[in-house]
Amino acid sequence: MTRMLIAGNWKMNGKISMAKDLACAIVQGDPGANCEYLICPPFTALAAVADSVRGSQVLLGGQDCHTALSGAHTGDVSVGMLNDIGCKYVIVGHSERRSNYYESNGLVKAKAEAAISGGLRAIICVGESESARDTGEALAIVRDQVAECLPDEVGPSNTVIAYEPIWAIGTGRVPSVQQISEMHIQIQSVLATRIGDDSAKLVRILYGGSVNTENAIDILAAEGVGGALVGGASLEAESFLSIGQSCP
Ligand code: PGA
Repeated sequence: MTRMLIAGNWKMNGKISMAKDLACAIVQGDPGANCEYLICPPFTALAAVADSVRGSQVLLGGQDCHTALSGAHTGDVSVGMLNDIGCKYVIVGHSERRSNYYESNGLVKAKAEAAISGGLRAIICVGESESARDTGEALAIVRDQVAECLPDEVGPSNTVIAYEPIWAIGTGRVPSVQQISEMHIQIQSVLATRIGDDSAKLVRILYGGSVNTENAIDILAAEGVGGALVGGASLEAESFLSIGQSCP
C-alpha cells in the first residue's frame, strides 16, 4: 500500500530562524508514523530548511512554480531552481493563487507539466467555493477542474491531487467525512478514465482545509483519502507530527 502523504503548506509564514527551528523540530519528532512528511516553506527559507532536513525522511517542496525553464519572469521561481535546492514536490493551483493571481485550470496544468518534466511531483489543488457547495455544484466543478488540470503524463509517481474546498481553508470548518469520500472517489474515477483503475488507485488524493489534530483521525480514515495538505496546523511541529501519527 502507498504510504499517506502529510504535506505542510507554510504559506507566507516563517523567517529563516523560525523555519529552521520548525524544520528541525519536525525532523527530530517521532518518526514512527505510517506516512511521508513533506514541508513546503516560503521560497526565502528553502535553502535553510533544505539544510535542516538533509539526511532525514522529511521531504521538501515548493509552494508554486513557473512554467518556463528560465528567463524574464520577475518574481517567479522555476522548477529547475526548486529541484536544485532539493525539492521533490511542488504545489500548483492552490486556491489562494487561483484567486489572488487568477490562475486558470490551463495554467495549473501547464505548471504541473513543467514540474513533472523537471523531475518534481506536482500536487494539484482543486476545490469548490462555498456557493458552489450550497447550490449542489461542488462535484461537477471539481470534476471539471481535475479533468482540465491533469497533466498529459499523469501517473501515481508524478502527480498528487489535493481536494481543498475553499470554504474550509483556514476557517475551522470541514466537510463531513461522507462529503470528503464522495469527492475523493469521484476524483479517482476521473483519474481512472485517463490512466485506468489500477493506476488511479495509486494516485494519492489529499484532503486539505482546516485539518487539525482533532479531526485528522476521521479524515485520514475516510475512503479515498491518501493524506492531507495542512496549512495552519503545519506551523507547529507537535500538531503537524500528530496529524501524521493519525494515519491509519
Ligand atoms: P488550512 O490550510 O489547513 O490552514 O485550512 C490548508 C491549505 O490552504 O492548504
